Amino acid sequence: MKKITIAIDGHSSCGKSTMAKDLAKRIGYIYVDTGAMYRSVTLYALRNGLFHANGTIKEEELRAQMGNIKISFKLNKATGRPDTYLNGENVENQIRTMEVSSHVSVIAALPFVRAALVEQQQQMGAEKGIVMDGRDIGTVVFPNAELKVFVTASPEVRAQRRYDELKAKGMEANFDDILKNVQERDYIDSHRATSPLRKAEGAIELDNSNITIEQQQQWLYDQYSKAA
Ligand code: C5P
Repeated sequence: MKKITIAIDGHSSCGKSTMAKDLAKRIGYIYVDTGAMYRSVTLYALRNGLFHANGTIKEEELRAQMGNIKISFKLNKATGRPDTYLNGENVENQIRTMEVSSHVSVIAALPFVRAALVEQQQQMGAEKGIVMDGRDIGTVVFPNAELKVFVTASPEVRAQRRYDELKAKGMEANFDDILKNVQERDYIDSHRATSPLRKAEGAIELDNSNITIEQQQQWLYDQYSKAA
């Protein structure tokens, strides 16, 4: 089988990362969670006082500090999945908090942030053999990917999944707040001027509201088998 590029896009908390990670593991591909990269820049901005009290960003200060933000991934042997590192620190849990989730769409709308992260993502995938998930992978990062998937599910199903995920990690979670955050991020992600979330040309759509994780994994593997 030839090595290909697999682009998986879709709405917040629709299980893209789970399906992308599991496929990458099964077929021996690199997995890159691009949402974790936007979340890491957000965590950096929060820690360094780059947000105004009203939630807007101190844009010029962040632009000047972009060069100080180094994001990398390292395999966690216990989970078998990559953890996210910000300037050498493992931030895998810190980037999943509600505080980061409620600020990330502002960061992801900034063209200079997107340009910097897209460049890194393209370098990571230069050799193919990669599964990358996000919002603009099939439209901007790898428009020529051999396999493009667009995943969605109802907002309520997605909020419940995020709630269960946070609870399982022993983290704070409130269903109504999560549902509101999912809906707000859908809106901002789909309406921003730069790289709005939309189904890429040639992408295959999957609504996974009513299928099990196992069915979803098999569906994705079948799509991979056809494309590779
Ligand atoms: O995938 P996840 O929900 O962790 O992504 C967090 C946020 O990062 C999204 O709501 C979106 O604003 C942004 N994002 C993006 N482009 C990507 C990946 C994520 O704008 N490729």
